[in-house]
Amino acid sequence: MDTVVDPDALHQGMCKLRVEGKRIGFVPTMGFLHEGHLSLMRHARSQCDHLVVSIYVNPLQFGPGEDLDTYPRDHDGDARKCAAETVDTLFLPPQLYHPDHSTSVSVAELTRRLCGESRVGHFDGVTTVVARLFGLVQPNIAVFGEKDYQQLAVIQRMVRDLSMNIEVVGAP
Ligand code: PAF
Repeated sequence: MDTVVDPDALHQGMCKLRVEGKRIGFVPTMGFLHEGHLSLMRHARSQCDHLVVSIYVNPLQFGPGEDLDTYPRDHDGDARKCAAETVDTLFLPPQLYHPDHSTSVSVAELTRRLCGESRVGHFDGVTTVVARLFGLVQPNIAVFGEKDYQQLAVIQRMVRDLSMNIEVVGAP
């Protein structure tokens, strides 16, 4: 398993794989991996040549009072779990956004309701980071938990609306 921390290095590696005709599978996470994450990895693994897992605690999706600093982290344990699931590339960026990052992705209609009503800005943070990760990884298929059903629906809508040419699948 390769561990990559630099977004540009990851992007270059993924471009090379795409040119070689490899099918890239992707599971984005915020780490502190549990059996649910591992089952998403197995699902992706069965449908790709090269499996990428990202671990990034995305500040954009935390609202006031939702404590980013106390979000649990266990990079060593997570790396061991990824290796055991035969992940090919573990992407662990200390920082993902450019210092003058100024683009936000918003799936307006779907995020006004359900969890979006009480977590204002949360889904914009999710779609912005997932769009950034999709741009870097360029996956053929990305797997998300059905547990976060609204998140899955919002990402599927983003991919459709922006013609991202990525198969976004939900798994239990
Ligand atoms: O479901 C999560 O863990 C996060 O919302 C995601 C999709 C990794 C984006 O930060």
